[in-house]
Amino acid sequence: MKKKIVVLTGAGISAESGIRTFRDSNGLWEGHDVMEVASPQGFERNPELVLDFYNQRRKQLLTVAPNAAHIALTLLASHYNVSIVTQNVDDLHERAGSTNVIHLHGELLKVRSTTDEKTILDWTKDLFLGDKCPGGNQLRPHIVWFGEMVPQMENAVKEVKTADIVLIIGTSMQVYPAAGLVDYAKTGTPIYFVDPKPAISEGDFNNLHIIPKTAVSGVPDLVNDLIKKVS
Ligand code: APR
Repeated sequence: MKKKIVVLTGAGISAESGIRTFRDSNGLWEGHDVMEVASPQGFERNPELVLDFYNQRRKQLLTVAPNAAHIALTLLASHYNVSIVTQNVDDLHERAGSTNVIHLHGELLKVRSTTDEKTILDWTKDLFLGDKCPGGNQLRPHIVWFGEMVPQMENAVKEVKTADIVLIIGTSMQVYPAAGLVDYAKTGTPIYFVDPKPAISEGDFNNLHIIPKTAVSGVPDLVNDLIKKVS
């Protein structure tokens, strides 16, 4: 029976693909206050600004590629039962070849009805006011905005609770409930934390291995070590 690895990723794993993180750029997201472009109030106040912001993000995503860290994680799947729980809204894990990916904060390449959150459509072009779902209602980005529910949290908790090993890559551990996921790991579960500026320290968990490197320099070696353990 393959051991289970759960990988929690944040913006840092996509940084070397050219997608900026949130808190490395003094809290502005591409020059915008996050509450202006990533909250229901912001969308209510200025829908065109918000739709344009995500149109820019979507366009940029289509010009970047997965990096060596995304790709290394796919190699784990031949030796472990791997599930990825990401806070990222990009599709770089999927484009690298990962199949079992939970997006806690939504997906940039999807949109949904403003009146029925179950009506979700794949969407790679620009989204404008007047673009409607089949039910005739305005479409919005399929992104979890600040203050909104995180529907995938329950599934994510189930994954972490059953992990034999947890990897945490490229997250500042500042946004809940995502940041609290690691607390659901069974006591003693080995946790590998990859981040050039780690937000936690060795004493925070009882079996924590901090790798103070970028994802591209730290994850491929970590994956090789984890594969050696079971080869
Ligand atoms: N490799 C690995 N980690 C990196 C790299 C890199 N090349 N560059 C930066 N980092 C680390 C930073 O040190 C930081 O700890 O990635 C982390 C990025 O933190 P944030 O920008 O806060 O991103 P994240 O933790 O994913 O934010 C969580 O906040 O704005 C909301 O919904 C948004 O999903 C996002 C959530």
